[in-house]
Amino acid sequence: MSNSLIIHSASQLVTVAGDAPKRGETQSELGIIENGALAIRDGEIVAVGATEEIRTLATNETKLLDARGRIVLPGFVDAHTHVVFAGDRANEFEMRLRGASYLELLKAGGGIMNTVRNTRAASLEQIVAETRARLDRMLAHGTTTVEAKTGYGLDTATELKMLQAIYELDAAHPLDLIPTFIGAHAIPEEYKGRADEFVDVVVEEMLPAIRDSKFEIRNLFCDAFCDDGAFDLAQSRRILERARALGMPLKIHADEFANLGGAALAAELGAVSADHLMVTRRDEMKLMADANVIAVLLPGTTFGLGKHDFANGRAFVEENVPVALGSDMNPGTSWCESMPMAMAIATRYEKLTTAEAIVAATLNAAYASGVGERVGSLQTGKLADVLIADVPDYRYLAYRYGANPIRMVIKRGRVVYAI
Ligand code: NIG
Ligand code: FE
Repeated sequence: MSNSLIIHSASQLVTVAGDAPKRGETQSELGIIENGALAIRDGEIVAVGATEEIRTLATNETKLLDARGRIVLPGFVDAHTHVVFAGDRANEFEMRLRGASYLELLKAGGGIMNTVRNTRAASLEQIVAETRARLDRMLAHGTTTVEAKTGYGLDTATELKMLQAIYELDAAHPLDLIPTFIGAHAIPEEYKGRADEFVDVVVEEMLPAIRDSKFEIRNLFCDAFCDDGAFDLAQSRRILERARALGMPLKIHADEFANLGGAALAAELGAVSADHLMVTRRDEMKLMADANVIAVLLPGTTFGLGKHDFANGRAFVEENVPVALGSDMNPGTSWCESMPMAMAIATRYEKLTTAEAIVAATLNAAYASGVGERVGSLQTGKLADVLIADVPDYRYLAYRYGANPIRMVIKRGRVVYAI
């Protein structure tokens, strides 16, 4: 079978070419080639350019794919998800529609704890099977790399079970999964009122157990939920400092509900990203810009909660902070499996332009996930993670919403979805 493929005649080849996270003025640079083409060999991109030029590279074995009237773009990278879990929380959604708040449910032992109980009780096989169905749908909407967090275990054994699920799915599913440990996702009921003791467990038991496990700690992010109803700044700092000392790259959930100073902590500790950022101040954005912390915005969460305090994407761009996007796919705040949907909300309510949102969902999300050198743009030497979308130009990716614009998904040079 031929391992050589040329996709040609795209109305726009949206390369998003760049060798660092894009910020400020460059956040909107799409690197478009009109009537563009791309050559793939052995799962990697080997040439990008005008159709006439790239077609001359075809040999007898090359498969040709005509993308006339369509756009070609990099596979989406979903920079923030809690996609691995068992069960659902449809009942809580109904309660929220009748007036209960997310934090009230969490404080009453529901919310994240509800999913923790389901995930603790589920077998590894059940978690893998339920997650696989979600990954299939994410792939169909153009996601080719997904960051995936633990955090529904909150005990060492279940956190390790979740990591195992992430590694098995990464190996078995066309989508690539990037693992993040978030033992500090909620205070489990058995530690109610004793949050500091639970932080001791995270620092003294969970992190060492992960260090001593088969999982490669340098490729494993450590995250913490620094917010009202979760962990305070001092507790988050303790966990992230310990993780950093072990060589783990850092992320933080900051400013989703209350501003506890998580964005400044991310800057101080040199975190790769700070995520959510719905109530972050300008002075904190400046600290993030100076420390090269990527802002991972999650518009599906504000929408999913039925709230109105969307992150100020425009301000992050103005303050020169690279902006990335994620779905925050999770059973509580945002059961969203579609990056085009996240882009549709980000443009309208977080005030990103469509071009900025595409950069946020591809190259910047790849850097936020630690894989910016391998994926996120259509450039020679990168993995051939490529989408063909049935829209005449890139603007339609956010303008139209609610239906899937993706017609073909190519992962590492292989067609893994086509309709
Ligand atoms: O990103 N903020 C914390 N974690 C998730 C919610 C997880 C859940 O409710 O299960 C979030 O919104
Ligand atoms: Fe989250």
